Formats: sequence, structure tokens, C-alpha cells
Amino acid sequence: MARREVELSEEPREVEVLAPDSDRVLEWSLRPETLADFVGQPELVGHLRIVLAAAKARGQSVDHLLFAGPPGLGKTSLASIVAAEMGASLRVTSGPVLGRPGDLVSLLSDLGAGDVLFIDEIHRLPRMVEEILYPALEDRRVDVMIGRGPSARSIRLELAPFTLVGATTRTGRVAAPLRDRFGFVAQLDLYLVDDLTRIVQRSARLLDLDLDEGAAREIARRSRGTPRIANRLLRRVRDVASVENWSHLGTTEAERALDLFGVDRSGLDKIDRRILDLLCGPFASSPVGVRTLAHAVGEEPASLEDAYEPYLLREGFVLRTPRGRVATERAYRHLGLPFPGGGLV
Ligand SMILES: Nc1ncnc2c1ncn2[C@@H]1O[C@H](COP(=O)(O)OP(=O)(O)OP(=O)(O)O)[C@@H](O)[C@H]1O
Ligand SMILES: [Mg+2]
Repeated sequence: MARREVELSEEPREVEVLAPDSDRVLEWSLRPETLADFVGQPELVGHLRIVLAAAKARGQSVDHLLFAGPPGLGKTSLASIVAAEMGASLRVTSGPVLGRPGDLVSLLSDLGAGDVLFIDEIHRLPRMVEEILYPALEDRRVDVMIGRGPSARSIRLELAPFTLVGATTRTGRVAAPLRDRFGFVAQLDLYLVDDLTRIVQRSARLLDLDLDEGAAREIARRSRGTPRIANRLLRRVRDVASVENWSHLGTTEAERALDLFGVDRSGLDKIDRRILDLLCGPFASSPVGVRTLAHAVGEEPASLEDAYEPYLLREGFVLRTPRGRVATERAYRHLGLPFPGGGLV
């Protein structure tokens, strides 16, 4: 039986709410604010539109939502869109920040009717904290233990109807009992170049940049399917433009700026190329496990799997086999190396 009571014998700590630094501020400023601004992911957007409209029509809070997908695809943006579309206030926190059950209890008991609580990296909630969520999500209650020993007693806190929006880089990492308590679980996929082009054009308008469609498409092509990278590359192109005094940004200018920052024509950055170098070089003779590869690249295995592999897999540079990762013919060609062929792939 899961332990679902919290001891509040210690002073509750202030729960840290994500503090914006300047990069984050810029990221927020480019964030889509409504579902209509949110580009791409048509199936997810269609479903979400129905879920939101139905809740509005019933005058109820939205069912709990879980967004999963690689970094930078729009999970946090969707959480704030849900709150905005419902006219609700948004509280933002994240799994690793909620270190103790009391942290979550004070957040939950502070929520007003209809509020949206966003927990980023929800797979990193400590077990004891996660167990507080189960009755909170199901029955809108938390049982709090006051005192210790024989005089301890349990009081029940009723919560206002609220919506939990969880985000995770991988659904597989969210414990099944938690995952099952979400009414809607959506997987975000890497974006297509057409959608990324629209995102770059929108951001250029917001940043007041004179950027033509060819330049937007070039940035999109090199963004590894990821809106956050598209916006980042756009800012780098803007930097080069201001140093070089370019007033207009066309395809040629975008290409020159992107080449300068080491992003190649397939959108691969230094780390991607290092991964391929290793797979086509020292590890070419047999499939390699993710830990070994991550160690050789100098990245955490989780970030290799979440941030680098999805694009390399989708673009067919790397194959995941039961025995480990191998480079494909495309990877060899990309590096200008002869493909050993046969045996491995
Ligand atoms: N569909 C979209 N349309 C327009 N812009 C988008 C879209 N998705 C993401 N963006 C842009 O990409 C940036 C990153 O998105 P966001 O922070 O929501 O991603 P995330 O999935 O929460 O990433 P992480 O897993 O790292 O927290 C945002 O600032 C936003 O400008
Ligand atoms: Mg996020």
C-alpha cells in the first residue's frame, strides 16, 4: 500500500518557482500564446482543442494532461497555452525542485479553482512526493499527518478543482500509476521543415527582422526538427547580420552565418558529428551501448538519448539495434568515408 500521508512537522520550505534569466526571458517572448499561434503537431493540437472546448462547455477544469517529447518541442509552451485558453492562472515548477512532500502539499493547497499547475520533468519527482499526487489527482484531496508518534493525527485537505500539466522527455520514465492518472497523454514529434520555416518566420516578425522565406527555410532545415534550435539559430543569424551590417537576410546570408556557427547542411552540430565520427571510426567494428557512446562524447546518457538520438535516428544516420548503436551508410557518406557495408547494417 502506497504511503499517501505527509508529515508537516517541519517548517514548509518555500517552493522555488523557475527564476527567469535573460535567455529564458527571450524564450518566453517567442512562445506561442494561443493554440492558433502554435505551429505544427496537427493531431495533438486537434485533440487538445476538443479537450479544452469540452471542459469550457461543461464549465469544468481541464482533465490532467501529460506532454512527452524531446527537449525544445513545445511542452512548456503548451502548458501556458492551456492556462491562457482556459483563462486560468499558471503555476510553474519542476520535479527535481519539489524535494519533499510538504513542498507539493503547500503548492496544491494554494491552488484556486481552475488553476493550472505545471510540473516540468515530472519523471524526476521523488517517489514520496509523487505519491501525494495520486489522491490529489483522483479525488482532489491530500492527507496530511500532523505531529509524530502516538499523538500524530491525520487531517484531510480538500483541494480546489485544478489541472495538472506534466512534461517529460520520455513517457517511459513516468511511473505507470502516475501516467494512468492523466486524462490525456500526448507525444510530441520532431517538426517538419515546413512547420519550422513558419516558426522562424513568426519569430523573425516578433524580433523585427527582415528575413526572406529562403533564409527561414535554410534555418529550419538546420534546426534538427526542433523549434528551440530554430529560434536559437535565428538569433545567431541575427548576431552575424548586425556585426556584418546586413540589412536584409536572404538564403546566402543565412547559409554564411550558419556555416560560421558550425551547423552543417544536414543540421548536425559538433556533438552530432562527434557521435558519427565515433560510430564510423573507433566503434565501427561492432554496435556500441549508449553509456559507452555517451562517455566517449562527454555527455550524459540521458541527454544523448533525449536530445541527440531522436534526430539522428529520424534522419537515418544511426540505427538502434538490440546490441547497440550503429552508423548507417548515410552517416559514412556524410563524413565522406567509404561504407564498410554488409555485416553491420
Ligand atoms: N509549435 C510551436 N510553435 C511556435 N514556437 C514553438 C513551438 N514549439 C516550441 N516553440 C518555441 O520553441 C521554444 C521552446 O519550446 P518549449 O520551451 O515549450 O519546449 P519544451 O518542450 O518545454 O522544452 P524542454 O523539454 O527543454 O523543457 C519556445 O520558446 C517557443 O518559442
Ligand atoms: Mg520546457
